[in-house]
Amino acid sequence: MLNLILRSLVDSEHFGRILGKYSHQGDVILLAGTLGAGKTTLTQFIAKGLDVPAESYVTSPSFSLMNQYFGRIPLYHMDCYRLEGEDDVEGSGLIDYIVADGLTVIEWPDRLGSLVPPDRLDIKIRCGGGEERYLSLVAHGEGWLKRLENISKACHEAVLMPEK
Ligand SMILES: Nc1ncnc2c1ncn2[C@@H]1O[C@H](COP(=O)(O)OP(=O)(O)OP(=O)(O)O)[C@@H](O)[C@H]1O
Ligand SMILES: [Mg+2]
Repeated sequence: MLNLILRSLVDSEHFGRILGKYSHQGDVILLAGTLGAGKTTLTQFIAKGLDVPAESYVTSPSFSLMNQYFGRIPLYHMDCYRLEGEDDVEGSGLIDYIVADGLTVIEWPDRLGSLVPPDRLDIKIRCGGGEERYLSLVAHGEGWLKRLENISKACHEAVLMPEK
């Protein structure tokens, strides 16, 4: 478990770039948080960390369910907001796109129900005042558990930690 305070969009960019750099093929990141919390914005910054070219602007996939971008590894950006539950998710075929060659980032993961992948990084975003965002990261599976330590160190160096 890692808690972070992102005090501004600049901090969010810093953190997103760190996450992108530490992501591997086959990884899944679930982004939870209310409407406008900053899930799509964080995904844009993760894309930067994956060296997705700036001209392929990361948009909300709400209408298309999934957008795909090509960086160091592919980024599959899914938005389950419009899906009602796991039957709907199953019918959409989205889960079949969680594939081994890229990083999958999923907004509104509560819709996944029992389809939630066992190995994943759960990120919850809460809004503070203005641009402030509170993040909690929980790793599931050995790959993310090990990496969360390194991500934590990188965030310490970037001064993204809450004050004690
Ligand atoms: N520190 C921050 N991190 C992320 N977004 C921020 C931050 N400060 C301000 N914002 C703004 O908050 C808004 C977040 O919108 P965004 O579309 O990313 O939210 P979302 O969680 O994807 O919403 P939705 O549930 O509708 O998909 C953007 O306008 C962004 O510029
Ligand atoms: Mg969004």
